[in-house]
Amino acid sequence: MRARFADPQPAISERLRERLEAKLAERGLDLDRQLPDSPEPIPALEAAQARIPVDYRDAVPEHPDVAAWVRTIAGNAVAPNTDGVNPHYGATGRRQITHGPSLLLWGPTGTGKTHQAYGAIRALTAAGCGVNWYATTAADLYAELRPRTGADPEYLLRRIMRIPLLLLDDLGAAKPSEWTEEITFRLVNWRCQHRLPTIVTSNMPPVRTSEVPARQPVLRERVGDRVLSRLSGMCTAVEFTGPDRRFQRR
Ligand SMILES: Nc1ncnc2c1ncn2[C@@H]1O[C@H](COP(=O)(O)OP(=O)(O)O)[C@@H](O)[C@H]1O
Ligand SMILES: [Mg+2]
Repeated sequence: MRARFADPQPAISERLRERLEAKLAERGLDLDRQLPDSPEPIPALEAAQARIPVDYRDAVPEHPDVAAWVRTIAGNAVAPNTDGVNPHYGATGRRQITHGPSLLLWGPTGTGKTHQAYGAIRALTAAGCGVNWYATTAADLYAELRPRTGADPEYLLRRIMRIPLLLLDDLGAAKPSEWTEEITFRLVNWRCQHRLPTIVTSNMPPVRTSEVPARQPVLRERVGDRVLSRLSGMCTAVEFTGPDRRFQRR
């Protein structure tokens, strides 16, 4: 016959519990106090939130390909100083993003590409990765890099080229010129060669196929063959479809 136990089992005896509670009460702690149900704050995520446009502050990487990419990048992240003499010691820092594949999110306006891009950045931060990231639209980048007095565009470009995680939004939307093509090429080429994770979004299909309407511009024509070749080498292309979510909200 199986023994029957009172349910639920007390974890400690009644006497011990009373003593424990008395000790806690001495210190002003109350076991019955409800714990706050908000999750622990994550300082890195809170810091990132401040830099994320309001529209995307709740974004999560719902798209399976974007979620898979986040897992890959988080898996590649390494703690600094882990490969020293004592590999198990000295791993005091947070994991840092180092290298990995990139993403090309493409599809019509309003299908959620930028939303997923910020979702990925938020997820990496929440996963405890040290994410030094920079987000810009291609048009803003060109504007910032235009030669003007008092600014050093070359320095800025070199900094952006080396950022561990870059979101280059709306590539191909700005009017192309030889100069924009050269800037894009230098940026993308560097990041391709150093395998620095980059999220590129574009409103255009990457290349012309039989399904692309004749009047629809494609990314290759906007950014040139050299850029497109690097992008196709480094990126997983993810197509976004569906209606414009901005219209649906109204
Ligand atoms: N998965 C989602 N859940 C909730 N809102 C979304 C989602 N995806 C996009 N949105 C909202 O729809 C609008 C358009 O999305 P956005 O990412 O800016 O589109 P795109 O970059 O493809 O033009 C934004 O206001 C965004 O916050
Ligand atoms: Mg967008």
